[in-house]
Amino acid sequence: MPKMKAAIFVEPGRIVLDEKPIPDIGPLDALVRITTTTICGTDVHILKGEYPVARGLTIGHEPVGIIEKLGSAVTGYREGQRVIAGAITPSGYSYACLCGCGSQDGAGTKHGFKATGGWKFGNTIDGTQAEYVRVPDALANLSPIPDGLTDEEVLMCPDIMSTGFSGAESGAVQIGDTVVVFALGPIGLCAVAGAKLKGATTIIGVDTVPKRLEIARQLGANHIVDFKNGDVVEQIMALTDGRGVDVAIEALGTQATFEAALRVLRPGGTLSSLGVYSSDLTIPLSAFSAGLGDNKIITTLCPGGKERMRRLMDVIASGRVDLKPLVTHRFKLDDIEAAYDLFSHQRDGVLKVAITP
Ligand SMILES: NC(=O)c1ccc[n+]([C@@H]2O[C@H](COP(=O)([O-])OP(=O)(O)OC[C@H]3O[C@@H](n4cnc5c(N)ncnc54)[C@H](O)[C@@H]3O)[C@@H](O)[C@H]2O)c1
Ligand SMILES: [Zn+2]
Repeated sequence: MPKMKAAIFVEPGRIVLDEKPIPDIGPLDALVRITTTTICGTDVHILKGEYPVARGLTIGHEPVGIIEKLGSAVTGYREGQRVIAGAITPSGYSYACLCGCGSQDGAGTKHGFKATGGWKFGNTIDGTQAEYVRVPDALANLSPIPDGLTDEEVLMCPDIMSTGFSGAESGAVQIGDTVVVFALGPIGLCAVAGAKLKGATTIIGVDTVPKRLEIARQLGANHIVDFKNGDVVEQIMALTDGRGVDVAIEALGTQATFEAALRVLRPGGTLSSLGVYSSDLTIPLSAFSAGLGDNKIITTLCPGGKERMRRLMDVIASGRVDLKPLVTHRFKLDDIEAAYDLFSHQRDGVLKVAITP
């Protein structure tokens, strides 16, 4: 059986490069040869054992590649075509998909969570940090890359851009809105860009890392709050003349940021949560106006599927948003363990790494 290299979860603290058989495909699948992939903050949760996956699973959920082989029922594509697929690969025909919520496709009971069924790569099936990946339900998920776009230009589409933008979309940002984004990692930075595209005119970014603050400004933040520099809630209330914000986007997944996001909402404002949380949240009565604040709290798992990918690549092709500054480091797949080390310790100003097999 022909083999390939793949980054495999061994146990908490250990993701290693190893050999595995090249995946077999069924009639509805495609085999994609990965040309570029990357590491997500969520992969770091997996590495640390904070988000459990099966031992031996190939990690990674951000594929850019070339169709190597198509399942017998997959029409409308050709082998050799450059494609991406979303981090989330909805089937298109499940109950959740037909309810309009493909990210929860086949919503299962993994680890007692009732959600995340649509997130399969590097979660419930082998992922993309490998030479090849099997893409399930290829007809719903393969999205051809427009001519003229490089791998790195579309590398953020499968997850980071889709998730970040969804923070603004799920929060229903309106023209003229004031939006705050808590945490300016790759997800929060894309949330800033998404809020701007949706029409927010005041965008406040909260973080402390100078390079991230600078890129947030490039992508549309007009105020910066350094969370190491005094009370964040007070600063945001002062910036909004005491009104609070229309939409607070949480892009970290901690009690502190969730709670601050709740405390800075205007009456009737929306908390749009993107973070992956690793422990139970509590909602203090005062932050929650005892349940009488007319606030909305909404969570979003990265939207996937080929139409979402087509739209995001169209945004890139249109030149409306330039996410190239997010790719700060490049590694060969052979060196992925070093890439994990750099990325998980956020050394050397890293934002996203491009990994090429
Ligand atoms: N909802 C989804 O579908 C989805 C998809 C991908 C990632 N995620 C999650 O999104 C979150 C962000 O991922 P990322 O890769 O952008 O993050 P990251 O780890 O690269 O960055 C986190 C940032 O948070 C900043 N920070 C730390 N404490 C802070 C505080 N108190 N206030 C404000 N900022 C603070 C850090 O300085 C850092 O810049 C993670 O929890 C990740 O798992 C969710
Ligand atoms: Zn991710």
